[in-house]
Amino acid sequence: MGKSSDFFGRDIVSIRDFKRDQLDRLFQSVENLEKSPNSLDGVLKGKLAALLFFEPSTRTYSSFQIAAINTGMQVTGFSSPAASSVSKGETLHDTIRMFEGYGADCFVIRHPMPGAARFAAETTDKPVINAGDGSREHPTQAMTDLFAIRKAFGKLDGLSVGILGDLKYGRTASSLAYALSNYDVEMTFIAPEALQMRLEVAQYLKQRGITPRSERDLKSVIGGLDVLYVTRIQKERIPDPTEFEKVKGLYQVNLESLKEAKASLKVLHPLPRVDELAAELDATNYQDYFVQAAAGLPLRMVLMSLVMGGAS
Ligand code: CP
Repeated sequence: MGKSSDFFGRDIVSIRDFKRDQLDRLFQSVENLEKSPNSLDGVLKGKLAALLFFEPSTRTYSSFQIAAINTGMQVTGFSSPAASSVSKGETLHDTIRMFEGYGADCFVIRHPMPGAARFAAETTDKPVINAGDGSREHPTQAMTDLFAIRKAFGKLDGLSVGILGDLKYGRTASSLAYALSNYDVEMTFIAPEALQMRLEVAQYLKQRGITPRSERDLKSVIGGLDVLYVTRIQKERIPDPTEFEKVKGLYQVNLESLKEAKASLKVLHPLPRVDELAAELDATNYQDYFVQAAAGLPLRMVLMSLVMGGAS
């Protein structure tokens, strides 16, 4: 790990920018960190991470903040636009320039506008990590998701993965599909008509020779799945409230809907959940979503260390 890695000095804007061997090496480093939890302590001492969150977050903000602290960095920025001059109309460009002036060595940015992370990366020479840009991408979530699946099954190749829910507006669903396309995985998209996966994602997969199965209903596919990745309806991104009313409550994963599932099925969810994933699953062997969320911390510690050139 360090300045010779593929990740050193790079922007993490899209999961599509990373190949299978790079992802596999990242996951191996996360496994190593889990075996030696203090091995990255202080490796980024003296550096400053700017966390600029223009949208709410629990997991992504906190895990990047803790990852930065654990690796020895100082942290600045804001967790909500209301707590910054963004609320007075300051632009993303000017906000980045300000934190550059204060000595930020890297930026972690969440923004409601698709493409904001790419814009930020073009604005600064410092590495930019996309912590979610609108409905487009959430690359570090996809890395966490793949790592969690690999941890549960010891592999990714050969698995059957169902991605259920709001595939149209959910950025974690599209990033996961992009990430899985690096592996020999059978993908099934399960969504109501109005929330089907966006065309650009289907086209990307097609270019890679992948045509996922597409279903409206979980019942017809649940028995064949190794992983069920559930997503929330992104109410905040659906432009028309009447469109939301039509889709809300259309699906819920609970014990009844998993009656035909393999005993080894793992249910993942990027969280937060609302009503699409029943709490009755929490105490079952299907539950992997809290394990998945926890994996976001070591993964982001390793990623920041690789990007910033911290030696292990
Ligand atoms: N999974 C995820 O991005 O959660 P937060 O919105 O809480 O960061």
